[in-house]
Amino acid sequence: MTLRAIKQIIPALETSDGAGVRIRRSIGQHQNIRMDPFLMLDEFGSDQPQDYIAGFPSHPHRGFETVTYMIEGHMLHEDHLGNQGNLKNGGVQWMTAGRGIVHSEMPQQESGQMRGFQLWLNLPAAEKKQPAGYRDIQPEEIPDVHLDGARLKLIAGELEVDGVTIAGAVAGGSTRPLYMDIHMEPGKAITLPVSEQLNAMVYLYEGDARLQHENTDTSLRLAAATILDEGNQLRIEAGGDGARLLLIAGKPINEPVVQYGPFVMNTREEIEQTLRDYRDGRLTA
Ligand code: FE2
Repeated sequence: MTLRAIKQIIPALETSDGAGVRIRRSIGQHQNIRMDPFLMLDEFGSDQPQDYIAGFPSHPHRGFETVTYMIEGHMLHEDHLGNQGNLKNGGVQWMTAGRGIVHSEMPQQESGQMRGFQLWLNLPAAEKKQPAGYRDIQPEEIPDVHLDGARLKLIAGELEVDGVTIAGAVAGGSTRPLYMDIHMEPGKAITLPVSEQLNAMVYLYEGDARLQHENTDTSLRLAAATILDEGNQLRIEAGGDGARLLLIAGKPINEPVVQYGPFVMNTREEIEQTLRDYRDGRLTA
């Protein structure tokens, strides 16, 4: 058993996207700051409607997946196929853009609050041209795992607890994504297995916590992607106020990534073709 240490800390930058939605972007803030197979992680949240009310009007995607997880408020979405949905508080929309989708995402307050995350998961070359699709995951479909000192929502992947394997709401996939939202009680510590085949990171979004590694004990930075080194376990201890954090891991694709805004392909030529397809209305054809 090898505990994972900290490899790199990527503090989120405050920026805006869409029609002026205020976000905190950690991985994906520059094209060389990623963690294969993940391209981007945004945290959005506000009690000020003007920060996000204009939302993300109609925009395209090709070549990857977007995973939107709301923890407060909800999100209305609509796409070029006429699909309409309302992503509820605690729910996840797992959207495979595949060869192309044009959609809008409009965050909405609930009791004056709106908060969530959007993660971009790359697809290998062989899967970039698949038809677009959605998985709308209701809050009650996400396994709620109780550990001594913590509760976690297993959005994707598998977790072994006391010799029993628990499957998340989304299982499998060529990059074997693992995605969990962990709520820790004050002063408690947990040890979680994370396969050594996966790249892994944690994102502390509330409270304080430390990552324990042999004799060292390092405070996790709030609102930062903390990329972990190799190993097959991770051990976290919450501070006096408890902690809320995401654990995100996946098998690296190890292919070239060429990104132009919302299009993520393997070569420049494919991006140029994508731009022509979008201009000519063939992105989603
Ligand atoms: Fe989008």
